[in-house]
Amino acid sequence: MQRKTFLTQSGILLTGLPLAGLARPFAKTMNSEALNKLKEKTGINPVMDENYWNIVRGMFNYSKDFINLENGYFSPQPFSTEQFHQAKEHDINHRTSWFMRREQRDMIEQTRKNLSEFLGCDAEELVLTRNTTEGLNTIISGFPWQKGDEVIIGNQDYGSMVAAFKQQEKREGIVIKIAQIPLLPKSDEELVNAYLSLATSKTKVIHLTHMINLSGQLLPAKKIIDAAHAKGIEVIVDAAHSVAHIDFKPAELGADYLAASLHKWLCCPLGAGFLMMKKQHIHKIWPLMADDEFGDDNIRKFEHQGTKPPQTVMAINEAIKFHNAIGSTLKQERLQYLKSYWVAKVQHLDKVTINTPLTSERSGAIANFLVKGYTPQQLADKLLKDFKIFTVAIDHPYIKGVRITPHLYTSIADLDKFVEAIKSISNS
Ligand SMILES: Cc1ncc(COP(=O)(O)O)c(C=O)c1O
Repeated sequence: MQRKTFLTQSGILLTGLPLAGLARPFAKTMNSEALNKLKEKTGINPVMDENYWNIVRGMFNYSKDFINLENGYFSPQPFSTEQFHQAKEHDINHRTSWFMRREQRDMIEQTRKNLSEFLGCDAEELVLTRNTTEGLNTIISGFPWQKGDEVIIGNQDYGSMVAAFKQQEKREGIVIKIAQIPLLPKSDEELVNAYLSLATSKTKVIHLTHMINLSGQLLPAKKIIDAAHAKGIEVIVDAAHSVAHIDFKPAELGADYLAASLHKWLCCPLGAGFLMMKKQHIHKIWPLMADDEFGDDNIRKFEHQGTKPPQTVMAINEAIKFHNAIGSTLKQERLQYLKSYWVAKVQHLDKVTINTPLTSERSGAIANFLVKGYTPQQLADKLLKDFKIFTVAIDHPYIKGVRITPHLYTSIADLDKFVEAIKSISNS
């Protein structure tokens, strides 16, 4: 859509301001409802409309000192969520125990309800946690393991989860088998087989990472879960990177247990996450911290963490509003577009290798690449020192490269600078 049409239809032209001066101050005070209306009014699907994304960019509080292409660790909050979070902290600090004793419980239950609608699950199957690590450790440490029980994990699973299983190997005598996930798989069946070919009558659990953080590869989780269930094996899903990034309802995967961090792609304040668990499993899983308030079958038994900041939980509601104002489909498409944009401009270069499968079923925003002649750390250091581009080196036994994670606030102009940097490095 032409800039003028977009602006006229959205009503922005009425302000009489030129776009460049308009986007930031306007967007800073813009809330989710206004953004929603803007999109509805224009009636377009603005995946490639930089006018729309310029406004979205203005809603984020990101550093201008460098180009941040390392948004995989956690996302900045949009101003609307940050301000909501700070206002709630201020209010709770003012009303102290009054809030904690009289309002906290209702607020938690309301948030559980909102988040369960967002995830597509029953509220009675949802635990509010601080992050993915806490959610998955609850299952891995709390599962009633018997000596000799087998688990299948992936060769590129997140280190903390591998450590959690190794602890159970030492403590309970479980046996860990490792599925070999190729960097560039040929088919879903190859991936299903990587897990299921290791299954025996002793296999109790498969643990899989929905979107592998090292490369951004997205696994066909539902197919793996269905195949595991057909053999009576329970499945734990690490969805840290797929929730609020890929357009799907987590509950529809049918996993027995699924956890994610909401400070990643939902753009919540740090320290917000969840764990979903099928009702029939609740009674058998031991909580990380003992609870004497709720019964064995009550999902709330997993939330006994002592006194914690309620404003972080409350901010989840505001973050969902912002996410919904953009919409899951548009968000996924924009993030995939940003990845495809830079990859298409460098993948043909002789010295460049892309370590991520690129189709929309196999990845989202994240891609991993390497330039011949550089170690991952040397390449990340050079990007930062010579071009002020911040990335992260991935030096893992199965994948070596630099991980690039753009976000909704990433501009095409910044990606152009990144592309020029890769060309310059690969020509030197
Ligand atoms: C795949 C995956 N799982 C789990 C985690 C842990 O997330 P958190 O530190 O928020 O618990 C990460 C963090 O980057 C991750 O990439």
